[in-house]
Parts: sequence; C-alpha cells; structure tokens
Amino acid sequence: MLALARGFLERKGLGEARLEAELLVAHALKVDRLGLFMRLDAPIQGTEVDLARDGLVRRGRREPTAYIVGRREFYGRDFEVGPGALVPRPETELIVDLAREAFPAGATEGVRGVDVGTGSGCLAVTLALELEGSQFDAIDLAADALGWAKRNRDTHGAKVTLHEGDGLEELERLVGAHGAYDLIVSNPPYVEPTERELLAPEVRDHEPALALYAPPGDPDYWVRGLIERAQRGLKPGGLLLVELGHLQSSRAHAAAAASGAASAEVLKDLAGVPRVLALKR
Ligand SMILES: C[S@@+](CC[C@H](N)C(=O)[O-])C[C@H]1O[C@@H](n2cnc3c(N)ncnc32)[C@H](O)[C@@H]1O
Repeated sequence: MLALARGFLERKGLGEARLEAELLVAHALKVDRLGLFMRLDAPIQGTEVDLARDGLVRRGRREPTAYIVGRREFYGRDFEVGPGALVPRPETELIVDLAREAFPAGATEGVRGVDVGTGSGCLAVTLALELEGSQFDAIDLAADALGWAKRNRDTHGAKVTLHEGDGLEELERLVGAHGAYDLIVSNPPYVEPTERELLAPEVRDHEPALALYAPPGDPDYWVRGLIERAQRGLKPGGLLLVELGHLQSSRAHAAAAASGAASAEVLKDLAGVPRVLALKR
C-alpha cells in the first residue's frame, strides 16, 4: 500500500511523495509513522484500504495533509485542524520563542495576553501553557475557526477565553473592560489578494480566504492597527509580537519606531526571513 500510495502521489506531482504516503497510510491504519513500520507484515483490512484511498484522492486534489489527517503539530503539541482554520506554520513558532524569552520561567504568574486572529488557537493555547500561570484571550471573526480553537483549548486544558468578533474592535473592548495586557500576539492575514495566483494550491484553494488576505491594497492594515492600539493596549514594558509577510518588515519597523514605543525590532525566522515585529511599550 505504501508503494502504491507513493507512486500515486508522485504522479500527482507532489514533492514529498514518500513522506506524504507514510503519513496518509499511517492515518488510515490509525497508527503513527513508527507504528506503520512495526506492522509492515500485518494484513490490511478493507476499511483501512478505503480510508487510505479516500485520503490519497483528497491529497491528489491538493487538500492540505493536515486537513486530511485532522491535525498538525505546533511547538511540540498536536492541534486539531480542518477546513475553516489556517494550518499552523512552523515559522509562527518564533512568536512563542520570543514570548518565552521576554517572560522567562518564574516571571509568568499572572501574565495576561491576547491573541488577535487566533485560528486554530495554536498561539494562545501554546503561550498559555508555556507561560505558566498566565491567561489568554483569543479573538477571531470566524466562528468555524473558533470551533477548532475551542477543541484545542479544551484538549490541552489551557487558560484561554475565546471571543468572536473583529480583532481590533474586540481588542479595544477587552482593554476597556479589563485593562491593558502584558503581551499582545498576532499572526494576521497579510497576503495581498493580487498575489493569490502565487500561492500553492493547498493554500489558495483550501485554506480560508479570511485567514490569508489583507484588505486589497493595504497589506499593513493589521500591523498598523495593532501598533496604534499597543500604546493603550499594553502595560508599560508590555510586548507586541506580530508575524509579518515578506516585504512588510521595513514599513512595520518604521511605523513601530515612530509610535513612541520603547523599542522596536524585526526578528528573522530560521530561514533567515524577517518574520516578527517585536514592539515594547
Ligand atoms: C493567518 S490566520 C492565523 C491563525 C493562527 N493564529 C495561526 O497562527 O495559525 C489569521 C486569522 O485571523 C482571522 N481574522 C481575519 N480577519 C479578522 C478580523 N477582522 N477579526 C478577527 N479575526 C480575523 C482569521 O479568521 C484567521 O483565523
């Protein structure tokens, strides 16, 4: 079955056909990749063949593997995902690293944070668990996405309160109601709609448009809005961390530096790409 799956995915032009075949067959057999190799000589049931075939056909249509197997790892934990929630990306883990540096172990009790555009909840849930004793609000406009965030919050037992609404409006409301935060994080939509055709089919045809695209002609809409709100929304010394798209970094840095922030820098991800704006109030 592995050989057939790999051949099928190769013919469909998928780059990592061997790995993908292993993931999809393992999913059909309800084992992890290691478990797959431990049962190489066990007979395969008809229902397992059906499930593997379904997954392969979906993958052949370029549906993201994470949607087919129903989960993706983020910062060492499994997050359930499916249509309606962006698949968590490894580069977003930089936000968690930076937050952990800013709030080292022993200094996290009572930290209050908010995640604007939470999607699967990967950032809010991870941060609430990594910063021991902290609690997070998580905002999204998409009810579907919040459904995934709720499952992940409940599975991991993280102290995260979910809010449905517009990110910037809800952020202002929460600050007005409960006071400024220690930490604001966001991986907002930052793709220009005109760049749609440049996206991989997995992204363009399957992930939610609301999660991908910035308002037409205004890729900086979110980072600008968050910088503007950081003065009132953060406690003195508080931190804003925003993921950036390519080409946004110099504009985001200039806007942050001009905002009266105590410090502003753009950090690179593991691939050396300028990726996260860090603004300290
Ligand atoms: C790029 S995704 C990030 C999801 C998740 N934080 C992650 O890193 O995987 C952006 C998220 O912002 C949400 N979003 C888009 N427009 C919004 C708005 N006006 N108010 C609140 N959330 C919004 C989308 O539904 C999506 O979940």
